[in-house]
Amino acid sequence: MGVLERLTELGSKVEAALEKYLLMDTDPEFREAVLYPVRTGGKRLRPALTLASALAAGGGVEEAIPAAVAVELAHNYSLIFDDIIDHSEVRRGHPTLWRKYGVTTAILVAVHYRESISQALNDTRDPKLFEAIMARTLKLLVEGERLDVLFEQAGRSDEPYVVERRRSVVTLRDYLDMVYKKTGALIEAACVLGALSAGAPPDLVEALSSYGRNLGLAFQVGDDIIDIFGREEKTGKKVGKDIEEHKLGNVVVLLALEELPADARGELLSILRKERLSGQDVERALKLISATGARQRAEEMRRFYAGAAREALKPLPDNEGKRLLLELTDFVAVREF
Ligand code: IPE
Ligand code: IPE
Ligand code: MG
Ligand code: MG
Ligand code: MG
Repeated sequence: MGVLERLTELGSKVEAALEKYLLMDTDPEFREAVLYPVRTGGKRLRPALTLASALAAGGGVEEAIPAAVAVELAHNYSLIFDDIIDHSEVRRGHPTLWRKYGVTTAILVAVHYRESISQALNDTRDPKLFEAIMARTLKLLVEGERLDVLFEQAGRSDEPYVVERRRSVVTLRDYLDMVYKKTGALIEAACVLGALSAGAPPDLVEALSSYGRNLGLAFQVGDDIIDIFGREEKTGKKVGKDIEEHKLGNVVVLLALEELPADARGELLSILRKERLSGQDVERALKLISATGARQRAEEMRRFYAGAAREALKPLPDNEGKRLLLELTDFVAVREF
């Protein structure tokens, strides 16, 4: 069987379990809204990483399924909030949860997801340890989202907490710290929980942890590239949304600002600092960015972290799990969706 078929097969095992945990203790009337996020699609990269990590560490797929489910639920939980925070109206080619059902119901669904994560983790081989790792990961993710918002250059004028703490300068180091927290930590946890499901020894857990951290950075750099240069038909998300949301926490924007001559740099910053951007403002910003080497340099950065992820797999024995992880890394290094 080819690696891609194997991935699809692994994905289908997670699907049924996802719905099982989501539907535990759920009023029949609430089911549709609860299932909406997972039924509108998603690449299922994180559960694939959990299962492949378990295989790579010498374990089986079955025993890693509850952890894989918990990780995908955590991802969807974060997206429900992220779409409210980012004012995003489309995801996976469909209206976002808050757009479809309203913010109140979206918040309730998100809390329901958080509890479904605990119910899934309760079926892992060491519920206390797995829950502790998940709790720490979600706190990192929250901190990453908080920083991402503080890196915005305008908006939220009715939120003094944000307005008073906003950063007007964001370095590449600040960016990497924020991205590790909002995206890298969960991808790292996906790999670690897979390894722990297999009862892996500490050196293999550490190797997979390092793999996940680097892959997570490559993944978010890719997401930033897609936000600026992608196509909605492919990504299922609105293009240029990070600009519309005034974000300095997008690596393409940061790299473009580094390169632009003073006047153009000032123009791009003043667009990001407008309280409301028109379609023309976004177009103009995209044009300014496209005149730089930012896209090229962001692609190099994505390949760099994907390479570091591959390198981290070196201590692992050659087996099917490792081959799957390498295949997933190749995908993350070039993905356009
Ligand atoms: C989007 O993640 C959010 C980020 C962390 C960048 P994915 O691109 O994995 O989203 P889905 O699950 O495939 O829709
Ligand atoms: C998402 O970052 C990270 C999360 C923790 C959800 P983004 O805000 O860039 O993700 P998208 O682009 O909306 O999927
Ligand atoms: Mg978002
Ligand atoms: Mg966001
Ligand atoms: Mg994004």
